[in-house]
Amino acid sequence: MILRVEDIRKQYRIAGVKRAVLSGVDLLLTAGQMCALTGPSGCGKTTLMNVIAGITAPDGGTVSIHDRPMHYALDVLSSRRRNREIGFIFQTFRLLNDETVLSNVLLPARILGRVDDETRERADEMMERLKIYKFRKTKAAILSGGQKQRVAIARALVNRPDLILADEPTANLDRRTAREIFDILLDLRKEGKAVLIVTHDEQFHREADLVYAMEGGRLKAAV
Ligand SMILES: Nc1ncnc2c1ncn2[C@@H]1O[C@H](COP(=O)(O)OP(=O)(O)OP(=O)(O)O)[C@@H](O)[C@H]1O
Ligand SMILES: [Mg+2]
Repeated sequence: MILRVEDIRKQYRIAGVKRAVLSGVDLLLTAGQMCALTGPSGCGKTTLMNVIAGITAPDGGTVSIHDRPMHYALDVLSSRRRNREIGFIFQTFRLLNDETVLSNVLLPARILGRVDDETRERADEMMERLKIYKFRKTKAAILSGGQKQRVAIARALVNRPDLILADEPTANLDRRTAREIFDILLDLRKEGKAVLIVTHDEQFHREADLVYAMEGGRLKAAV
């Protein structure tokens, strides 16, 4: 099993009031599976992605990747692990705007301290595949939304992770670009990666293997 999420709980204290965001989330994802996640704004989708990625510590429950539980206390270790095992495509890109496209794509590899020739070749390959090779020396700031999304995907893939987390990767794109980005995620599924994607697009729901809606802090099968 690539991803096993068991009984994840998380509450936030907002203006002194505790509010449960995740109230027992369970999820299994195996190689070659795509799971689409939907649910109203503020229901906790990004929080769940952050917990899976080891960015946010849950109050209870476990996340295991390749049957090894995540440890949230050890910041440095969980960030190394995230960079090796998970490709995270953030809701808001989170690119380094003053850096070049190439430098952005290489970032997860730099965190692992492994920018050798093979890594550089792989970065070139990813940029070619995502049609951003010609921008490799361009600063990320001046790219369009669709181009930035491609950089974010190339960056998520550079360490060849088995688990891809994509948080509304097509939300701000026109129909055609959204389709292209989704097709890239389908290709990753075909290669045997596990893909968890937050999307409200019903067409994409039809093409996913599993569709869950977040409701009351839990996942419910939706179709
Ligand atoms: N670091 C934080 N501190 C306090 N509250 C937070 C924090 N992060 C998220 N929240 C709260 O948790 C709830 C869930 O937020 P989250 O970003 O996970 O929602 P979402 O489902 O991804 O929404 P959207 O569809 O708008 O992206 C919101 O009420 C948000 O205000
Ligand atoms: Mg969100």
